[in-house]
Amino acid sequence: MENYTHDVQPREESRGTSAHAEQLELELRPANQPERSHEVGVASGASARTSSGQGRPEVTNRALPVGDGRLGHLYSTPIPSRRSGAVYNAFSYPTKIDPEAIALFVAAHTAPGDTVLDVFAGSGTTGIAARLCEHPTVEMQRRARELGLPVEWGPRHAVLYELGVIGALLSRTMCDPPDPAAFQAAAQRVVTAAADDYSWMYDAEAPDGQGGALRHAIWSDVVACSCCGHEVTYWDLAVGREPLTLRKAAECPACKSTMSTSEARRVTDVVHDSLTGSDSTQRRRVLAHVYGRSGSTTWHRPPQPGDLDLIERVLEQPIPAGVPSSAIRWGDLYRSGYHQGIERVHHFYTRRNLIALGGLWAAIDNEPGELRDALRLLVLSYNATHSTLMTRVVVKTGMKDFVLTGAQSGVLYVSSLPVEKNVIEGVRRKIETFKSAFSTSHGGSGTVRVVNASSTQLDLADRSIDYVFTDPPFGGFIPYSEINQVNEAWLGTTTDDTEEAIVSPAQRKGVSEYGALMKRVFAEVARVMKDDAAATVVFHSSKPDVWGALGGAFTSAGLVVERTNVLDKTQVSFKQVVSEGSTRGDAIFLLAHGTEARPADSVGDLAREILDLRTLHGQELSPQHLYSRYVARCVEEGRSVELNAPDFYARLKSLDEVGVT
Ligand SMILES: C[S@@+](CC[C@H](N)C(=O)[O-])C[C@H]1O[C@@H](n2cnc3c(N)ncnc32)[C@H](O)[C@@H]1O
Repeated sequence: MENYTHDVQPREESRGTSAHAEQLELELRPANQPERSHEVGVASGASARTSSGQGRPEVTNRALPVGDGRLGHLYSTPIPSRRSGAVYNAFSYPTKIDPEAIALFVAAHTAPGDTVLDVFAGSGTTGIAARLCEHPTVEMQRRARELGLPVEWGPRHAVLYELGVIGALLSRTMCDPPDPAAFQAAAQRVVTAAADDYSWMYDAEAPDGQGGALRHAIWSDVVACSCCGHEVTYWDLAVGREPLTLRKAAECPACKSTMSTSEARRVTDVVHDSLTGSDSTQRRRVLAHVYGRSGSTTWHRPPQPGDLDLIERVLEQPIPAGVPSSAIRWGDLYRSGYHQGIERVHHFYTRRNLIALGGLWAAIDNEPGELRDALRLLVLSYNATHSTLMTRVVVKTGMKDFVLTGAQSGVLYVSSLPVEKNVIEGVRRKIETFKSAFSTSHGGSGTVRVVNASSTQLDLADRSIDYVFTDPPFGGFIPYSEINQVNEAWLGTTTDDTEEAIVSPAQRKGVSEYGALMKRVFAEVARVMKDDAAATVVFHSSKPDVWGALGGAFTSAGLVVERTNVLDKTQVSFKQVVSEGSTRGDAIFLLAHGTEARPADSVGDLAREILDLRTLHGQELSPQHLYSRYVARCVEEGRSVELNAPDFYARLKSLDEVGVT
């Protein structure tokens, strides 16, 4: 995303961007940090840590025995979380972690036969990681060697709790997939059946008159000039060529007055909605540009009469049974501008894509029962991210034409140039990725149990879990239940958000409600962890009070932070991250039973503390790096994080200005 000069997202619609801006990079404890033990695999002070809280017997933290080297560099070298591979690419889920990265933690902290718990399972990557321990990839074995982990590969068991309906289905299916070959054959039958009935809807003639098929089409809002009322497409008004640009302001072709392209009034129509039987007001969207393929040749051109005739024919086509039309439960993501008219799930689609998806969905019913969940996930993997009006194009530096991309992650943003992809061909292309992802975790003797429920109450015995790896919601960063409803509507059940751990004005949950839910979850985590068990928690926020909620949950559960590290979620290679020694990403906390936080250093006032951090290694550290170190130190010492990231940077700047060194 950083390379894009200009998304088509207008200014008023900045919620997604700001949400992502919250994901400030954390850089914690580089390998040479002097405060901790220099010995590899040694948890400083761990052996002395005892627990006397919550009626538990005194326990020594045997999870981190001094000097056994079991954890190698796992907590002293940033761990890369790659965004590639079939398992990662099969189904996109917000803030998903690379299963191979999690597998290193599971393998290092457990022995074959042990059980790992994830209380915020999302798409089930901790379960896949447990599976991978039985059949480690070459890459995992290499990474384990480089980190100095004396791992005993073999089956692990996993218990996954996930509140969300789609997350739980994903977890269950990805961790316990059907036979990959049987799945592939069934998926091909499903796509062929849908293509037989509906591929005509994507017919498109090449510029030279040859027959061809639509790859994707860009649609456009229609805007009305506030001075003279003249109607013009957003495409005609905003798109500039050579170089390709999206103009923020443009002249009305009729009266020549200047208007803001993002804020100009959108033209709407009252249309009859055949799924609800009632009328609804919808933004008028017209076909703006067509991209197709004839044989192996790709082409693009403006719309022509044949395209418009085809769309008229599609409008007469009945919508297959099973297509959802439930009302959207709008929450924090609703924007009165670009969500105008989107009241029900089917309003997120062009009629053509709604019908094609309905055809794919219906064809699944003809397949064997044991394959249907996997087939549904295949179709849904292309649904919310590629089949709706949320699919986009962006302008990228140096590119002559728009770059096609999926829905923006973590928001329900609809641009003024929504894209309609050929969903039958898109789903067909995903079959191979799913087959490959299923092959990774198919078979084996480790078990994965998935519970679709809130982790505020675990149906697990006291002290039954050997290790916990979890990645909680980062405050209000992603409203999972709101986003996931577009996929869940197709399953006929949406998530009950009552116990969703989130900061959400729409759900009337502030940081204190979020903190209370986190406390209940971590109390359960501590209850089920064996005395010598460890928990690894991945977290990030730029907001001090959210960090406070996390730290409070650890403390009240009787858990202490033993080590910190960083999970690097960039595209760079493992080697690169290791050799650079510092990185950007989410914080990792290693927790054990205990009540004594690491004693606070005598830091004096905040300015002095910041300066101490800055001069730690006699090298100039970036503000982001300093903030990460500051936050990690606060959480580790059990004190509140007083500064959010912008305030921290401002304080840093003012220290520079007054020349304090
Ligand atoms: C950061 S995501 C986890 C992502 C996961 N690590 C992955 O790789 O896919 C956090 C998850 O916690 C879930 N969640 C929120 N509140 C919950 C609760 N009370 N109990 C269980 N899960 C919850 C959300 O639905 C979301 O899927």
